[in-house]
Amino acid sequence: METIQSILASRLAAAAGDTGGIAVTVHAAQDTRYGDYQSNIAMQLAKPRRANPRAVATEIIAQLKVEDLCETPEIAGAGFINFRLKPAALTAHFAALAADERLGVPPVPQRRLVIDFSSPNVAKPMHVGHIRSTFLGDSLARIGRFLGHTVVTDNHIGDWGTQFGMLCLGWKTLLKKDALERDPISELERIYKLQNERCKSDPAQLDAARAELVKLQAGDGENLGIWREMIRLSQVQFDTIYSRLGIRFDLTLGESFYNPWLKDTVADLVARGIARESDGALCVFSDRTGAEKEDPFLIKDENGWKPAPALVQKADGASNYTTTDLATLDYRSREISPDEIIYVTDGRQQLHFRQLFAIWRRWQPRVQAKLSHVWFGSVLGEDGKPFKTRSGDTVKLADLLDEAVDRAAKVIAEKNPDMPEAERTEIAKIIGLGAVKYADLLPNRQGDYVFSWEKMLSFQGNTAPYLQNAYVRIRAIFRKAGIDHSEFRTPNSAFALSEPAEFNLVKKLAQFGEVLPSILDDHRPNLLCNYLFELANAYHSFYEACPVLKAGEPARSSRLTLSGTTARVLAKGLELLGIGVPERM
Ligand code: ARG
Repeated sequence: METIQSILASRLAAAAGDTGGIAVTVHAAQDTRYGDYQSNIAMQLAKPRRANPRAVATEIIAQLKVEDLCETPEIAGAGFINFRLKPAALTAHFAALAADERLGVPPVPQRRLVIDFSSPNVAKPMHVGHIRSTFLGDSLARIGRFLGHTVVTDNHIGDWGTQFGMLCLGWKTLLKKDALERDPISELERIYKLQNERCKSDPAQLDAARAELVKLQAGDGENLGIWREMIRLSQVQFDTIYSRLGIRFDLTLGESFYNPWLKDTVADLVARGIARESDGALCVFSDRTGAEKEDPFLIKDENGWKPAPALVQKADGASNYTTTDLATLDYRSREISPDEIIYVTDGRQQLHFRQLFAIWRRWQPRVQAKLSHVWFGSVLGEDGKPFKTRSGDTVKLADLLDEAVDRAAKVIAEKNPDMPEAERTEIAKIIGLGAVKYADLLPNRQGDYVFSWEKMLSFQGNTAPYLQNAYVRIRAIFRKAGIDHSEFRTPNSAFALSEPAEFNLVKKLAQFGEVLPSILDDHRPNLLCNYLFELANAYHSFYEACPVLKAGEPARSSRLTLSGTTARVLAKGLELLGIGVPERM
């Protein structure tokens, strides 16, 4: 079904006539005292025409046909057009929404999206640094799929690189078999660290590690076997974590998958004059076609702009992260033909991706896929420094998730001393993991955020438990009424809405289909978090103001439908953030 926003936008476009290519947009009003929706189209049109925006607004309103939906639109401020919806229109819209399987989310033009996220490195434990990429990427994938896009998720794991020289040597000389069996990743981490120390103090060890790397790269059977075993053990760890989190990947190709194409990639870049030799290495320099400020191959110091080339082959002939990413892009565009590729990594990789995208545009200018680097800030401890354990180590993801579930279990036990243990454990998983995910997705992704157990597990404020609790309370109403929860989708009553709190709730519900498609414009699931919080608040106000079960008909069934639809939107919205809902808590 169509959203109110898009109905108003098309009516407005019809009234505005020829806009000279200016898009007519309408958005939900920030301040609902002056209306429910607002447009600044009159101001936009007035500028090139050198006209008075309020006069343009008056002209548009004279042509505008919205009597079926709104009161007469009003002009505010410098020329905003404000729309106030009529109760009858809201009631009709809500009746359609309540019956809609898709909860009012309209179809959008379908695209093919590749989402490259999580991407941990082999032989290392997943840690707190992976949570943002993992949760953001998963949420974008869920939203993309729900909107009807074809989504391919790819875990670009770090399974190749110079560290495998040390790892192979460490495996042969330092490995403890029983430790490996007990906790493979910790043992791999241990041998890597130890080997690294040895290499630092002993040049002979460093040579030996290099020799192991050369053997691995040349396809030596023993080293390939060790390398494969390290990948297998790491994948077991990754899979355990992903399955706890309800995350799946369509592909896990990994960096090594692209090795067969690296030489050709570099050769082609050289042949086309995109890469050239510099101090024995092969580099891409600025082509000086754009503004210096936007040029990723230039850097400014006190003497002005100087070259900051991207390396695609080191002096020793080895390829690097950029070479692999170029081959990956080429492979994805050949095999998947995406409309957009989304890379979710931390902000420190911004230069890498700007250079990568620029090289790609020069290398394959005909491929039109949109390339998006969705970057994020760091997770900080309550002291404002990078989040660490008490002993100063990086926080392992598995430990973090365990702690989340433990802490949630305590909260649940306090609130429900009589709940059976098994049920409590199940609910604690949903609450604990949900709290961590939500706290991570809520802040604007480009900022840092402070990790606070207390805040994220609170039942008050903009948290997952608050939203889950709103859902649980609605479910309790239905239990009390003895109504099966699948039944409230199709009430046979005529809707009768009369209270302001009811209409406010309907307006919020109607915005689900407006907010959701906008999230992929700038890859910001936090818009969904904020929407769900506003919805839960609107429900709360409705619940305070309007009795549900004690109301007479037809208010009672209308309010049950309002409640049921709110529960469905809350559950769907949370699901799109990768968060579950319990039936009790
Ligand atoms: N493994 C990389 C890291 O840990 C992230 C990979 C991101 N994806 C990519 N195609 N470069 O930083």
